[in-house]
Amino acid sequence: MSTKPTQTKAWKSLESLSYEDINLNLLFDQNPKRFDEFSFETNGLFIDFSKQKITSEIKDTLCQLAKEMNVAEKRDAMFAGEKINHTEGRAVLHTALRRPQDEKVIIDGHNVILDIHNTLGQMKKLADKVRGGDYKGFTDKAITDVVSIGIGGSDLGPRLVYDTLKSDQESINLHFVANIDGDDLQAALNQCHPETTLFIVISKSFGTQETLTNALSARQWMRNHFGDDKDISDHFIAVSANVDKALAFGIKEENIYPMWDWVNGRFSLWSAVGLSFALGLGFDKFHDLLSGAHQMDKHFSETPLDQNIPVLMALVGIWNTNFGNSDVLAVLPYAEKLKLLPAYLQQLEMESNGKRVDNEGALIKDYDTCPTLFGEAGTKGQHSFYQLLHQGTADIPCDFIGVINPDTKYKNHHESLIAHMLAQGQAMMQGKLSPDNLAKDFVGNKPSTTILLDKLDAYHLGMLIALYEHKTAVQGFIWNVNSFDQFGVELGKEMARNIEENGMSNTDPSTSRLYSRIHKGKK
Ligand code: F6P
Repeated sequence: MSTKPTQTKAWKSLESLSYEDINLNLLFDQNPKRFDEFSFETNGLFIDFSKQKITSEIKDTLCQLAKEMNVAEKRDAMFAGEKINHTEGRAVLHTALRRPQDEKVIIDGHNVILDIHNTLGQMKKLADKVRGGDYKGFTDKAITDVVSIGIGGSDLGPRLVYDTLKSDQESINLHFVANIDGDDLQAALNQCHPETTLFIVISKSFGTQETLTNALSARQWMRNHFGDDKDISDHFIAVSANVDKALAFGIKEENIYPMWDWVNGRFSLWSAVGLSFALGLGFDKFHDLLSGAHQMDKHFSETPLDQNIPVLMALVGIWNTNFGNSDVLAVLPYAEKLKLLPAYLQQLEMESNGKRVDNEGALIKDYDTCPTLFGEAGTKGQHSFYQLLHQGTADIPCDFIGVINPDTKYKNHHESLIAHMLAQGQAMMQGKLSPDNLAKDFVGNKPSTTILLDKLDAYHLGMLIALYEHKTAVQGFIWNVNSFDQFGVELGKEMARNIEENGMSNTDPSTSRLYSRIHKGKK
């Protein structure tokens, strides 16, 4: 068994299968069963790979690559809590967060399922209390607004879930603040009143500058209203692995919810990091989200590789990236409620697999890793960047995502929406030649995957997010990178600190001139 994907037999075979010669339209002509052969379904999630540039031979060889790269063994090690995040000496156990109470996952001799369900119990109690109007602020008024303060993995997941599942009749208004730009905080505070607002400060480290700055300004906003000497601690809840720092901020011990070092930020929405949307949407939806994700976990851990949806999705991505030379992936949800999915997936995939050093510490020189991910909700993207998808010089593989039974009163809109989604996949594949006018030529033969969700409820959203999590992990297993650290985010933080503290010293000539220009221009 090899550690480098390029040294496997399967990689060499894939190189000889010449991606460029594949003609999708011809493949459909040759094989009337192509759609059935390359479509898969599990529990209300349907996925069609038939518009990807794969054949049975390519699929088999990709599955062989997964075998040679020990994907099943690495997956099982992840589920079992082995310390596969070897650069940080940590287990990777977001899947444990969605396991039922009677199961066991032992880390360092301790069953972490007990901790997880204990926390879930506390979250449910708080959610019921706040939503029932029984959690009172300093002036004995019920909470009407919750402000979630966090960034990256402590923001994007909860924001996505809330934005997707919120209805017009929520009893709590939920706001999210992430950016250190004060306008972000201001926009949330403009909609809140100090007497009826609860802040949830989410930070695994409790040391992230953006989050702490926002939390301090939020506290000051409260103090400006109540006075500096009043105990407003019941208006603040923390979710953190750093209890000492949360206590030092002034958050009461009973108001601190745990994060664990075996859950990465970008995989953490299933933990107390999801407290904000549990409060905003009700705990039942949180529970359904976990069930959907757990269902996908079971599919991922129990299904043979050649039928395994996250594994196949990962392999198709590897085929496009490493053998088709495509360094971009477009994620195109044809559901306005999923408009934040591309932003969420940018962190999930690019922070996980944007790596150039392999698990042995060697530079990766002979293959690419993570593509750049971008996207927009359909049909808005069609009137913007789809020009490039259809007629640009590069092939950009697309993931189309549609919902079969949306919760909408505008059924006719949905018919049009779905027609557009299907038409885009068809146009990308079939193209349309215009021999008299090259500028109007659509060459077609552009690959895409289509995912259909039976409904856009908490359960299916949980499945969808877990699908992308597992796809990301499998790609990391094959690219032989550690998908669970993120050292690449540190240098910018360090330099920002230096600029803030020391001004122009220790910066390059361009940066110091920009610094001077900004400060000279300040009125
Ligand atoms: O800077 C990147 C990062 O470390 C992410 O991985 C993480 O999700 C985010 O910052 C927030 O970190 P924390 O939860 O510690 O505030």
